[in-house]
Amino acid sequence: KPYVVIMAGGIGSRFWPYSRNNRPKQFLDILGTGRSLLQMTYDRFREIAEPKQFIVVTNQNYLDIVREQLPELKVSQILTEPLRRNTATCVAYAAYKIHAFDPEAMLIVTPADHLILQEKKFINTISRALQAAQEAGRLITIGIKPNRPETGYGYIQYLEGDNGTPALKVKTFTEKPNSKLAKTFLDSGDFVWNSGMFVWKVTSLLDAFSENMPDVAEVFEDGDSHFGKPTEQEFINRAYSMVKNVSIDYGIMEKSDKVYVILGDFGWSDLGSWHSIHELQEKDENNNVVEANALLYDTKNSYLKMDSEKLVVVEGLDNYLINETDNVLLICKLGGEKKFRDFVANAKKKG
Ligand code: GDD
Ligand code: MG
Repeated sequence: KPYVVIMAGGIGSRFWPYSRNNRPKQFLDILGTGRSLLQMTYDRFREIAEPKQFIVVTNQNYLDIVREQLPELKVSQILTEPLRRNTATCVAYAAYKIHAFDPEAMLIVTPADHLILQEKKFINTISRALQAAQEAGRLITIGIKPNRPETGYGYIQYLEGDNGTPALKVKTFTEKPNSKLAKTFLDSGDFVWNSGMFVWKVTSLLDAFSENMPDVAEVFEDGDSHFGKPTEQEFINRAYSMVKNVSIDYGIMEKSDKVYVILGDFGWSDLGSWHSIHELQEKDENNNVVEANALLYDTKNSYLKMDSEKLVVVEGLDNYLINETDNVLLICKLGGEKKFRDFVANAKKKG
């Protein structure tokens, strides 16, 4: 029985200012289904996992939201982080803890904020990944056929396997390439996007930490005497203060030579940017998404989302985002929100 580890600690900086006084997007019912993205992730994996097989890793500030949204889970299934230390640390916490109780465990690691349209095909792909991960040492990712030179994703180049081999050996893994490189990857036709979902034996993963992130391994190996005990949180607080902020993609997937990919095609979208939300929403005849009281002239491929009833008059824009939340008005190229971490830091200084 696999464990399903849901990473739900992102703060949604790319959705600033919208995310500023709204909950991070994994807790929002962005698609209007009545379930948040986190709840939809849980529902999707319930096909292959019982409630007790789930682990949610999140910031301590979000503990109450997670409990409220997933009342099926025991508090011990929600791991709380004192600081944001990115996905490598989040995965390490879950993996070292699970290993302490169940060294034979299989893990599925998933983001909390993706959209998947074809759930049957998805579950089928995950089952194939679980099978491929049985072989010791293998780190399995799920690859998606790319359709644009997106720079916010990881790109995977794989070696063609024999017919019928479900898992393809990965030749290169490039996290968040610049746009020139992304275009080259897309044009070559040899690359798939990393979906950000991973499947592995817990022992394969721990070996990968020892090999590629020995500093993280060293810190978390000491957890064995604390996990499940009253000293766990104290240990974790200390551990988090000692490790660097690194994603699993940079920390392990780019470096390891034991990465394999399973190709998936199940209507996947990372709702990770305004751009990806724009792609999904209903558009007017000029490919604009308009959630605002607006008059548009000669404007196309843009996204307008206003909090207030203020009339917005726009002329001559192509591929722009206009978002008003409270007293912040953001105007940027759609896709420009990649640079948000810097924008937000500067804007915060201004108040
Ligand atoms: N618990 C926890 N703690 N969760 C986190 C943290 C953290 O510090 N940081 C991020 N997460 C969660 C996010 O909430 C999200 O669900 C998931 O981990 C992935 O983080 P993102 O910040 O959204 O990563 P990304 O989208 O830039 O890149 C990843 O996903 C892409 C596909 O969507 C990478 O794996 C890329 O290679 C991949 O293409
Ligand atoms: Mg993401």
